[in-house]
Amino acid sequence: MSAATTDQSTAEVTINGTVRKFDGPPHTNALDFLRSQGLTGAKEGCAEGECGACAIMVARPDESGGTRWTSVNSCLLPAAALDGGEVVTSEGLADGDSVHPVQEEMAVRGGSQCGYCTPGFISSMAAEYYRPDRCEDGFDLHALSGNLCRCTGYRPIRDAANALGLPAADDALAARRDRPAPSARATDYQRADTATGKIGRYRRPATLAEATSILSQDPEATVVAGATDWGVEVNIKGARAKNILAVDRLEEMRGIRRTESFVELGASHTLSELERELNGSIPLLGKLFPQFASRLIRNGATIGGNLGTGSPIGDTPPALLALEAELVLTSVRGSRTVALADYFTGYRQTIREADELITAIRIPLPLSPLTSFQKIAKRRFDDISSVAIGYAVDIQDGMIAKARIGLGGVAATPLRATATEALLEGRPWTLETVHAAAETFPAEGTPMDDHRASAKYRTAMLRSSLERFYAEQLSHPAVTSKEVN
Ligand SMILES: Cc1cc2nc3c(=O)[nH]c(=O)nc-3n(C[C@H](O)[C@H](O)[C@H](O)COP(=O)(O)OP(=O)(O)OC[C@H]3O[C@@H](n4cnc5c(N)ncnc54)[C@H](O)[C@@H]3O)c2cc1C
Ligand code: FES
Ligand code: FES
Repeated sequence: MSAATTDQSTAEVTINGTVRKFDGPPHTNALDFLRSQGLTGAKEGCAEGECGACAIMVARPDESGGTRWTSVNSCLLPAAALDGGEVVTSEGLADGDSVHPVQEEMAVRGGSQCGYCTPGFISSMAAEYYRPDRCEDGFDLHALSGNLCRCTGYRPIRDAANALGLPAADDALAARRDRPAPSARATDYQRADTATGKIGRYRRPATLAEATSILSQDPEATVVAGATDWGVEVNIKGARAKNILAVDRLEEMRGIRRTESFVELGASHTLSELERELNGSIPLLGKLFPQFASRLIRNGATIGGNLGTGSPIGDTPPALLALEAELVLTSVRGSRTVALADYFTGYRQTIREADELITAIRIPLPLSPLTSFQKIAKRRFDDISSVAIGYAVDIQDGMIAKARIGLGGVAATPLRATATEALLEGRPWTLETVHAAAETFPAEGTPMDDHRASAKYRTAMLRSSLERFYAEQLSHPAVTSKEVN
C-alpha cells in the first residue's frame, strides 16, 4: 500500500484502460458509479448480491506477485473502494469491433435471450477464463454460482463456458496478469451527500497502526472490509455511515502465516483467497468454502467480516469453533488473543471492544483428522444457513479421543456442543455411541422458528446430523485402520 494518505474529494479508477474520477457521496456503490459513466452493461437486478447482474472484474493481487482478474458484485462494493484500482466491465472486454471469446461463445451458443443477466455472466466467465490454472482444471462452473438467469436456461451458458479455449498470445488482459496488481491506495475521501447535505467520509489507511488510531479517536466509525454485508445494509436498509474505516486491503491483516503450533489467517483475506491458498490443508475449511454463498460473494467477503457481524448464522463460526480457533483483537493498546468460544456473548454481541479490530484468526495444530461441515439451507448454493454444524473428531484405536462440535443457527449465538462432546469422548466410535449422543444433541441449542426454518425442523436436523457425520466417515483411514466390533 502506498504510504501517503491524501485528503481528497475525488477518487480515481482505471476503468477499461481509462482513468475516471469518482466524486459522488461515499455511500455510492461501484455499480451506480459505473452506470453514471455511461457504462450500463452491468445491471442492478437485486442490489443485494444475489443475482450477479452487476458483476465486474477488478485487478487483485495474486499470491505469485502478479494480478488475478477477480469478479465481484459491483452493487455491494463502495465506489470509493476502487480508488487507485483497475476495473474491467463487459464493455471493456471487446476489442473494437471484435468481441471477446467469452462474448463470442455466449452469442453463438444461445447463452443470452433478454440479455439482462448477460454482462454479469460475461464478467464472471471472463474472470474464470483468465484464471491461471484453468488450462489444467478446465472451466470451473462454480465460477458462475453467483449469476442467475431467468430466461435462457443454464445449458447454453454452460456450453459456452465449456467451449472456451485459452487466451490468445496477444491478449492484453492475459498479459496484465504478469504484472503486479495496483497496490491499494491510502484514501481519505470526503464528500457531501447531495440528498442530506451531510459530509460522509471513506478512509482507507495505509497501516494497521493508522487504522487502530482512527478507531481509538472515533470508535463509532463504521469498519468495512469486503462490504458484502455492509453493501446490503446500504442498498436495502438505507444505512449511511458518517465515517467509514476500510480495512480490507491492510497488509498486516492479510495473508496466511504458519508456525509449528498454529495457522494464522489474516482477517482481511477474502474467502476465495483462503480457499485457494490453504488448498485443502485445513480440510474442515476446505469443506466449508464451496458451501459459502457464491464465488462472486467469496471474492469480496473476508473471514474477519464474517466474525465481525456477530451473526448466529454465519458459516465460519461453527467450523472455527470445531477447530478451537482463537481471534487476535488489536487496538492502540496492543493485541489480545481470545478463544472464539468466548467471543460471542449474545445476539450479534461479542467481547470485541468498539476500538478493536479482528486482525487474525488462529487455528491450533495438530488438526483432528475426521471433519465435516454440514450446512442445511433452502438452496445448495448462495444461501444462508438454517443450521450449520462443524465437526472435528480424533479417533485413537477405535475410541473417540477428542470431539469438537460447532453449531450455528440453533441459538442466539454460535456455540460449542460441549455436553455432546463430553458424551462422545472416551467412548468407542460406533453407531451405538452416535445414537446415544444424538438423543441429547438437540438440547445443546434453543432453536427458534423463523422464516428460514421451524424450531422443530432445526431440532430434527441436529438429531440426524451426528448419524450423517458417522456415515460420512465410514471409509476414513482413521476409522477403517482400527475398526471397533
Ligand atoms: C448474497 C449473499 C450471500 C451470503 N451468503 C453467506 C453465506 O453463505 N454464509 C455466511 O456466513 N454469510 C453469507 N453472507 C454474508 C456475508 O457475505 C459474510 O458475512 C461475509 O463474510 C462478510 O464479510 P465482509 O468482508 O464482506 O464484511 P463487511 O460487510 O465489510 O462487514 C461486516 C461486518 O463486520 C465488521 N467487520 C469487518 N471486518 C472487521 C474486522 N476486521 N474487525 C472487526 N469488525 C469487522 C463490519 O464492521 C461489519 O459490521 C452472504 C451475503 C450475501 C450478500
Ligand atoms: S444487482 Fe444483484 S448481485 Fe448485484
Ligand atoms: S437472458 Fe434473460 S435473464 Fe438471462
